[in-house]
Amino acid sequence: MLPTIDLTGRTAVVTGAGSGIGRAIAHALAEAGAHVTVAERDPVTGESTAESIRSLGGSADFTACDVTDIPSIEAAIASAASRTGSIDILVNNAGIPGASAPIDEFQHDVWDAVLAVDLSGVFRVTREAVPHLVKSGRGAIVNIASTFGMFGAPENAAYAAAKAGVINLTKQNAVDLGPRGVRVNAVCPGYVDNDMARRGDRMSPEDAAARWATRNRLAALQPLGRQGQTSEIANVVRFLVSDMASFMTGSIVTVDGGCTATFNRGSEVQEAR
Ligand SMILES: NC(=O)c1ccc[n+]([C@@H]2O[C@H](COP(=O)([O-])OP(=O)(O)OC[C@H]3O[C@@H](n4cnc5c(N)ncnc54)[C@H](O)[C@@H]3O)[C@@H](O)[C@H]2O)c1
Repeated sequence: MLPTIDLTGRTAVVTGAGSGIGRAIAHALAEAGAHVTVAERDPVTGESTAESIRSLGGSADFTACDVTDIPSIEAAIASAASRTGSIDILVNNAGIPGASAPIDEFQHDVWDAVLAVDLSGVFRVTREAVPHLVKSGRGAIVNIASTFGMFGAPENAAYAAAKAGVINLTKQNAVDLGPRGVRVNAVCPGYVDNDMARRGDRMSPEDAAARWATRNRLAALQPLGRQGQTSEIANVVRFLVSDMASFMTGSIVTVDGGCTATFNRGSEVQEAR
């Protein structure tokens, strides 16, 4: 009989789980038996994810968490740990793309905001959660980086730098935490179909439709020829946090339809991120 992924009895914290990839990860971990704390800055979407897990028979709660705000992180991690006294799984998923621009026109506030969420947020949440992950004795962290942290793309300075930072922070934390019994890996998604990309928040309907078309065109150039589904990222995260991946730490796992295997990534990636 094939072994299955069983997370029964484990407590997981997933940041930014109100939508998209984070929501799919929260569902995937709950399906495998984990209790999931949805750590999200948006209370409406955060509570919605927790409620949808519970409605399917899973175990989840919502805790407000802005990964740029230290008191908010402290409260969220304390709340998650209070259920069982430890945290077994942390998925650092919260992220924002920020507006694209040439480097000499790149807005300082965009740079600061993207680095604060996408890189410093990973550091701060990890820092707070580590004592609980060590206490667990089987702690596992997965950081959601991006293929955009692995190569340069036009006009994406902040996002590319932040995600590259997450990749090496993953390796660094794997080095520091391996001896303390905590595994740390990263997943780099390629183009993933999500609600935000479809809706094009803060965009005109025309711009949103154009960006969606560009994403599909660029995805079509890649080996699997399509965008990924959020569940296809979540499946890999569920594997990485499970005992099935017990000898994996410091690994950077691309889940990108072959994007990084090919030279042919297109030249307009900044429009599509
Ligand atoms: N969708 C893609 O194509 C793609 C590709 C590569 C990497 N990623 C990465 O995957 C992760 C999830 O992206 P997504 O596509 O699901 O996006 P999304 O916008 O659907 O979800 C991001 C979530 O993070 C939350 N969030 C944002 N700032 C936060 C903060 N300060 N504190 C707490 N929560 C916050 C948002 O409210 C939202 O629920 C991000 O790290 C993103 O960079 C996405």
